[in-house]
Amino acid sequence: MVSTRSIARSDLPEVVAFIAQLQADPAHYIGYLDTDVDALTEQLCHLEPLGLDGVIAATRAGRLVGVLAADWDTDPARVWWHGPLVDDAEHSGTTADALYEHACTLLPAGGLEQELFIDARNEHIGAFARRHGFDRERSSAILTRQLDGLPPIREIDEVMIRPLADADRNAVAVLHQQLFAGAHRSGARLDEGDQRFVLVAMRGDEIMGYLAAERQEDGQGYLDFLGVPSVARGRGIGERLIVEVCHHLRDAGSDRIHLTVREDNRGARRLYGRLGFEHERIGVPWRRRRRIR
Ligand SMILES: CC(C)(COP(=O)(O)OP(=O)(O)OC[C@H]1O[C@@H](n2cnc3c(N)ncnc32)[C@H](O)[C@@H]1OP(=O)(O)O)[C@@H](O)C(=O)NCCC(=O)NCCS
Repeated sequence: MVSTRSIARSDLPEVVAFIAQLQADPAHYIGYLDTDVDALTEQLCHLEPLGLDGVIAATRAGRLVGVLAADWDTDPARVWWHGPLVDDAEHSGTTADALYEHACTLLPAGGLEQELFIDARNEHIGAFARRHGFDRERSSAILTRQLDGLPPIREIDEVMIRPLADADRNAVAVLHQQLFAGAHRSGARLDEGDQRFVLVAMRGDEIMGYLAAERQEDGQGYLDFLGVPSVARGRGIGERLIVEVCHHLRDAGSDRIHLTVREDNRGARRLYGRLGFEHERIGVPWRRRRRIR
């Protein structure tokens, strides 16, 4: 019989080692989780809002056979499932379902959408998602670049790049809503959190573009959003923001940056490719819009 429970701090090394081993295999990989043991430890301890209480482990005959962790938020009202990561021979479906059933009891009343983000080759969670009524959304390419050999920063006439100021917040939020409606982070919260920051491209008082990024727990950079209003495109502002953030992250000590871009977003992918980003994997989001609890 499989049994499930919230983990204690003393379980953490075993749970992290279990996740890291499965994360190394594309057939189990989850986009929201790190692959590095130290970064995973940090991630699990800082799950929102429960920390380690948001991590459920499954054991069979005393052996750890599965883990499912949850992060959730109210804006948007959504839970991001990290898992179920299962290594349980012929019982994998049953174990995944037991983890899910337990983890759902942790969620707040009032209703949350649910999201999974997995490697396209992760058939384990793909089957789990279909079984539980999730819909497959448009896939994204995960790209990465080493932060060496960076192109120089090229000035653009009349356009200045600087960190987001309070006076810019409204305009950036409006542009973000136009370009990324329904995204995992609303425009008002792009720089919420210690290691998150936003750069803006300005011509006088006018917003010509923005880029939101993060320095992750493992020290690597993540480019979260990049947007240029349609009237300002094709002038090098997107490129300038990307190059600028790469320099900034490198100067802060990061040696690598990742980003996610819709697989069918040819223009942006061409731009990233020209700037030295390489394909790492295809990620597939699965979403269940019917709210639980
Ligand atoms: C993707 C996006 C940020 C690009 O912004 P941008 O400011 O147009 O980017 P750039 O101007 O640097 O590059 C775009 C093209 O203009 C060209 N270009 C750059 N400077 C130029 C100039 N001075 N004259 C003519 N063309 C120029 C680039 O070579 C590039 O050509 P390509 O499409 O053949 O690669 C913008 O299209 C956008 O906001 N799209 C919607 C949101 C989105 O998809 N974001 C990315 C996903 S996270």
